[in-house]
Amino acid sequence: MAKRGNFATKFGVLMATVGSAVGLGNIWRFPYQTGVNGGGAFLLIYVICVLLIGIPAMTAEFIVGRETHKNAVGAFEKLDSRWSGVGYLGVLTGFIIDCYYCVVTGWTLYYLYLSVTGSLLGGTVSEYASMFHNFSAGVVFPIVTLVLVIVITGIIISKGVQNGIEKASKIMMPMLFILLVILAINSCTLEGASEGLNFLLIPDFSKIGLDSLLAAAGQAFFSLSLGMGCLITYSSYFTDDVDLAKTASQSALIDMLVAIVSGIIIFPAVFSFGMEPEQGPGLVFKVLPNVFTQMGFGTLWAIMFYLLLFIAALTSFISITEVVVAYASETFKISRRNAVIVVCSLFILIGIICSLSFGPLADVTIFGMNIFDSMDYLSTNIMLPLGGILTSLFVGWSLDRRIVETQLKIDSPVKYKVLRVYIFFLRIVVPIAVTTVFIAQFLG
Ligand code: TRP
Repeated sequence: MAKRGNFATKFGVLMATVGSAVGLGNIWRFPYQTGVNGGGAFLLIYVICVLLIGIPAMTAEFIVGRETHKNAVGAFEKLDSRWSGVGYLGVLTGFIIDCYYCVVTGWTLYYLYLSVTGSLLGGTVSEYASMFHNFSAGVVFPIVTLVLVIVITGIIISKGVQNGIEKASKIMMPMLFILLVILAINSCTLEGASEGLNFLLIPDFSKIGLDSLLAAAGQAFFSLSLGMGCLITYSSYFTDDVDLAKTASQSALIDMLVAIVSGIIIFPAVFSFGMEPEQGPGLVFKVLPNVFTQMGFGTLWAIMFYLLLFIAALTSFISITEVVVAYASETFKISRRNAVIVVCSLFILIGIICSLSFGPLADVTIFGMNIFDSMDYLSTNIMLPLGGILTSLFVGWSLDRRIVETQLKIDSPVKYKVLRVYIFFLRIVVPIAVTTVFIAQFLG
């Protein structure tokens, strides 16, 4: 068995973690969720959720991962085999998320391709809507792009933790930040941008309902990559000098900032060109092409935006895939390369079925939803919260306190006080908050 990999630098640790967290969740999902949930008020609750639930839960995953240096299943097995079900749940969740995440990542690749070839711009809103439907309901392009996404991911992952994941993140994430800033500055200079900024940044509390609360908590969880052992797997590659609480706080803040900046890119543009923010999931595929069409140098902005979206999605996709690959290679004692081949072949197979649920397989339904939607619902709304609650309960109640102290390097009276608050959060606040969200969605 080859020696287990690890991240070489602290910068690499941060970029890989942020690479996992920043994804479609920030740039595609956050803006449309904000759009349909009334803007600024949603943003405010989201920020509170990240701070109160997200950072503690993220630190908990880090503790489990770095203490054991094992994959999500192996980690629980080593600490307390009664909890290993949480690890299996995580790998299964990762598997399900992966199968539809590759479909949407494929869409971003297709839109990047259209922008580069110059054929994206020049349409009207309704043309873009039908273009998106025709494309996603098709067979050839969605399948070709999703296979490409999986193959690129497979190649990066098979190069290992340092030469694959860390290197790719260290190159792609700074690129992403530069693109974000340029696009945001451009949006703010558009005529009427302030209307969009007001929508995003000024809370209108009359619009806060129970559903926006739930949506914000769910969004925070998904966006921080919590609840399926993804960060357990990544932190199993952290060396001992990495400060876990600091890394969790930094990653969560950067992730939140990227979501907000994505809103700053999208809403001024949407308002400035007289479009509606409440478009739902099609926002970046149906509305933005038209916005770019109306801008000077539209093709350039379109290329930058879809490249941004693609990079963000790819680094997240890599992190979800790594959960399954690490589990497969360590459990069945096969090489990383062979694990990648097996796992990615399965993803291609199920990804294709998932993609076809927008077209030829549209009539196949599970619990009244098509295949894509039911996988999204099952994983995001049920399995992730469940995994998050169980991980918090495990670290809060069951894990030997000395392990938590060692991992968080608690060595002063002040830090002991902070630790007490932290444990209280893991034991009570996080489980109750997430359970409430979890149950409320079935009553809603
Ligand atoms: N956080 C990513 C995003 O915002 C998606 C993601 C990556 C994820 N790894 C995860 C979501 C693990 C849940 C669990 O797009």
